[in-house]
Amino acid sequence: MNVGIVGCGMIRAPYLRTCGRSGLLNLVACSDLLEERALGACREVQDNGWGNPKACSYEEMLQDDGVDMVINITNPTAHYRLNKMALEAGKHVYCEKPLCVTIEEANELLQIAEKNGKLLCCAPDTFLGAGHQATRAAIDSGDIGEPTAAVLFFAGGGPDGYHEYPDFFFQPGAGPMLDIGVYSLTQLITILGPVEDVAGHSKITFPERTVLSSKRFGQKIKVEVPTHVSASLLFKNGVIGTFVTSFDIKGGHNLPHAEIYGTEGTISLPDPNQFNGKPRLFRADDPEKGGRELKLSCGYSGKNRGIGAVDLAASLKNGRRPRASGELAAHVLEVALSIYESADTGRHVRIQSSPQRPEPMPERLVEDF
Ligand SMILES: NC(=O)c1ccc[n+]([C@@H]2O[C@H](COP(=O)([O-])OP(=O)(O)OC[C@H]3O[C@@H](n4cnc5c(N)ncnc54)[C@H](O)[C@@H]3O)[C@@H](O)[C@H]2O)c1
Repeated sequence: MNVGIVGCGMIRAPYLRTCGRSGLLNLVACSDLLEERALGACREVQDNGWGNPKACSYEEMLQDDGVDMVINITNPTAHYRLNKMALEAGKHVYCEKPLCVTIEEANELLQIAEKNGKLLCCAPDTFLGAGHQATRAAIDSGDIGEPTAAVLFFAGGGPDGYHEYPDFFFQPGAGPMLDIGVYSLTQLITILGPVEDVAGHSKITFPERTVLSSKRFGQKIKVEVPTHVSASLLFKNGVIGTFVTSFDIKGGHNLPHAEIYGTEGTISLPDPNQFNGKPRLFRADDPEKGGRELKLSCGYSGKNRGIGAVDLAASLKNGRRPRASGELAAHVLEVALSIYESADTGRHVRIQSSPQRPEPMPERLVEDF
């Protein structure tokens, strides 16, 4: 499948590597508002022997019948418009998170994709990682009995500490909820199934942030979205989740990323933002009490960001549903935005969407990769 990449910023490198090495995706075009970034991405692909793409405008990419799929890794507020343009031009789309920034936009994109017979998929794809898949398999086979509760915690000091251009992280479309919280939500939803009700609180602890990366050291950013969010999630299967996501934890912390509790045991999950990491199972009847690492058997455990786009191509080849589907991303977005709504109104919010869980991963998506 021939692929055009739009947005050649910080996250482009893992995408180029995963696409280039997959053997299923052929990088044919790169585009960015800043032409030198598109040219740089093309050079990177050529230098690594991953293909010979052209640098072009987005319009040119969409007019090119040789481009089958667009990978959209621009900033969040550009996602909706660029995804819509690509679907209307008859391309399959794989987008970085979030899919877009409102539920109405998400529903519209899903409708356009369906009408045009194109696939719409979205990050995070880290749930295709081996540790996450092992957790899911253990829970499905009853290793912790009946799941009853879960804790999700994804928090840190924020991207003003490491990103070259961190402004967008503090604007609508990002914040910890849509930047990192979506990893936790996707991880738990793909294991436990959809969420049906949420209640939340949120705050902006620091109304102004200071850029700490070298190029713009000391510059100030105005914060426009909540940077600390705490929520209670009721999953459809009855599990009650406690969820915290934050850019305001300046002193570090000592909490695990996620744990799922069941009638007979507990699983401590790996980092939802990575493909590696080993889940640990603690059983009530285990005399050792220290728990044991779960065996990893399928899914990817290296640096495989972008594997969701490979899965999209593989799903077309094999006639099955893609795993990192637009429906899943739209549900995660609805849960995230409903937590904001609950925080603003002081009321619980019922979730309307209810996607199927994606299929478990096979050992490999593509032979040799
Ligand atoms: N940086 C990370 O660690 C990271 C990790 C995972 C996911 N992401 C996600 O990846 C996406 C991009 O993040 P990033 O860190 O690479 O951002 P970035 O700011 O470094 O790069 C974004 C690029 O998109 C380009 N762009 C913006 N609007 C455009 C448009 N209309 N047409 C063409 N190009 C356009 C910008 O010029 C820029 O080069 C975001 O959705 C982010 O949430 C980032």
